[in-house]
Amino acid sequence: MNALIDTLRPNGLDPAEDVLLAWLKTTDEAAVAQLYQAAFRIKNEQSGPGIFLRGLMEISNQCQKNCLYCGIRHQNEATLRYDLPESDILALGHKAAELGYASIVLQGGERVDNKFVSKITRLLQGLKNIELKRGVDGGARKPHQAKGLGITLSLGEQTEEVYREWYEAGAHRYLLRIESSDPELYGKIHPQDKLHTYQRRIEALQSLRRVGYQVGTGVMIGLPFQTEEHLVKDLLFFKHLDIDMCGMGPYIPHHDTPLAVYADKIPSPERRLDLSIRMVALLRMLMPNINIAATTALQVLSDRGRELAIEAGANVVMPNLTDLLYRSNYDLYDGKPGASVDADLTDSPFARYLQERNIPILRGEWGDSMHYFARQRG
Ligand code: 5AD
Ligand code: SF4
Repeated sequence: MNALIDTLRPNGLDPAEDVLLAWLKTTDEAAVAQLYQAAFRIKNEQSGPGIFLRGLMEISNQCQKNCLYCGIRHQNEATLRYDLPESDILALGHKAAELGYASIVLQGGERVDNKFVSKITRLLQGLKNIELKRGVDGGARKPHQAKGLGITLSLGEQTEEVYREWYEAGAHRYLLRIESSDPELYGKIHPQDKLHTYQRRIEALQSLRRVGYQVGTGVMIGLPFQTEEHLVKDLLFFKHLDIDMCGMGPYIPHHDTPLAVYADKIPSPERRLDLSIRMVALLRMLMPNINIAATTALQVLSDRGRELAIEAGANVVMPNLTDLLYRSNYDLYDGKPGASVDADLTDSPFARYLQERNIPILRGEWGDSMHYFARQRG
């Protein structure tokens, strides 16, 4: 490994902040290409050559919050609200199992009412009973693999009791992005009220960890007011929180949100894409055995956005299973891939890309974070 790459791993310690900053800022394309190659190699060594799949279900766009960047914020009256019936969600679970997606993600706006909490609990119990098909694409199931679907939740901040109830009902991974690890920047992109404090978000992440989840977080990249220094702090935040999974992607303005007024003050789409891919590669260098997603927002900025992330060390993709009818209303940001993007990866440009490079799509595998197991072993 060349000397530049070695700057990232000085004797196994955290790299200095100025080293990370230099990697985010450098215009030396050859060096950046080497960084991506090194990150890709580390991903292969740690998690194998394949890409893990999670079937994404956007189960509801009802949300109690008003994050200033998000298209489905409560106060956006232009959003047509939906809440998928339980039977539809279970049907999506069957669809996932049929497609060989052994893991699913239930994502939705934040709701904390009892009706919602118990709906999720019941659903988890139902989804757990769905049997995976044997031999989908990848032959027999490996011994360490469980029989049912692996379930990740992404349903915002809840009390520790609710997190525990859902864990006991069968969820074992949870995604809750910190959005920005800098309390001041967090404050600028959220309303100033009790529902939207940085402290609440941190406490929720700590609760998830205590309950026993594999914990994922992430940030948006290219936000108004955000500097490269913030992004360096984000990387070190992930490391210090010892996260198991990460999903991060570019910020993409949504026209019906308060933050959209700064749309001409953020980095160009090219720069936001480039920064996002660099963040993936740097995080892979810092945390070799976590799961890192090639996120959907990357696809908005480039047809090859997810592919670029994979080449820089990402190892998870989340194809959207949500029915097209609802999907258009899960409108987090402008240009979110909609009707043109199919849940079944077979024969897509993305699948062909992976095939050409001999990167297997790991159907039939849960694809848990190796970091989680290492953490469990102590
Ligand atoms: N641009 C990019 N990502 C966004 N999200 C919400 N709004 C936007 C946006 N405008 C992301 C947030 C949230 C996830 C569900 O979607 O990071 O955690
Ligand atoms: Fe709700 Fe999440 Fe959007 Fe915030 S980012 S408004 S919590 S859906």
